[in-house]
Amino acid sequence: MIAWKILITDGLNESGKMILQASAQVDDCTDIQPADLLRIVSRYEAMIVRGRTKVTADLLEAAKHLKVVGRAGVGVDNIDLQAAYSREITVVNAPFSTTLAVAELTLALLFNVARAIPKADQSMKKGQWIKKQLEGVELSGKTLGIIGLGNIGGAVAQRAQALGMTVLAYDIIALPSEEWARLVSLETLYAQSDFITIHVPLNEHTRGMINGAAMMSMKPGVRLICTARGGIIDESALLNNLKSGRIAAAGLDVFAQEPTGLTELIAHPNVITTPHIGAQTEEAQARAGVDIAEEVLRALSGEPLRWKVI
Ligand code: 3PG
Repeated sequence: MIAWKILITDGLNESGKMILQASAQVDDCTDIQPADLLRIVSRYEAMIVRGRTKVTADLLEAAKHLKVVGRAGVGVDNIDLQAAYSREITVVNAPFSTTLAVAELTLALLFNVARAIPKADQSMKKGQWIKKQLEGVELSGKTLGIIGLGNIGGAVAQRAQALGMTVLAYDIIALPSEEWARLVSLETLYAQSDFITIHVPLNEHTRGMINGAAMMSMKPGVRLICTARGGIIDESALLNNLKSGRIAAAGLDVFAQEPTGLTELIAHPNVITTPHIGAQTEEAQARAGVDIAEEVLRALSGEPLRWKVI
């Protein structure tokens, strides 16, 4: 059996690692810095990343023996797919591993922007009792607009229906999750939704899609959630609309620049933030680890692939 050399750069769940170790030499260089990665990458036939590692054209050029990049998760916007394609490097991901974790975090942010739970908790920890300032809104009876009705958008739609919400969705393609939402135009979604949540990948079509003009066509007082990718929402337009009160609140797990540091947007009192923890559950990471380990080994062995990105 060939002992493949596989590099892990952003951590991998133990069960995934064990699958790899049965037929490969696995080097776990979690949190490796770009310059060090560039220096050692030529030693490996495969590398497994999460979102932190930027798999750039320069890195792929230095990766003389690389056959496969595995993304332990869904989004591949951190991988230069064009450069991988032209070097005949296969890219695989684990597209179903994190669906529930991200959908549940979206629901958590939805409840939090409706009831300002972090503000309530922070005030309690200061010994205050600001009950009168904490009048929120109910989700039941409200309209949720979902932009992107794929796996995650569909899981959110199903759960939102159970909460008694009217669910509208916009997608460029019709998907099976349609049973959980009424497909509408983006204009209708903006005009009718009390809450809007985004579940599209970041690409040239979606970068900056939620810009100032889009915000102006949303219902005044809308609450916005994004657990998809930073860069889809224009953050300075969002800050302006929060300041004017046109957008009542935002729940954000993802940012144009990560890590963020403390920005004016994050500090805004009506913004609830989390540090890109959508996929950060034990269950999602176990699934991502196993799925990507199996898929990377299949790719190295030339077996048929389930989740080939390119
Ligand atoms: C994904 O694309 O799978 C999620 O955004 C999680 O990304 P992460 O693995 O970098 O946390």
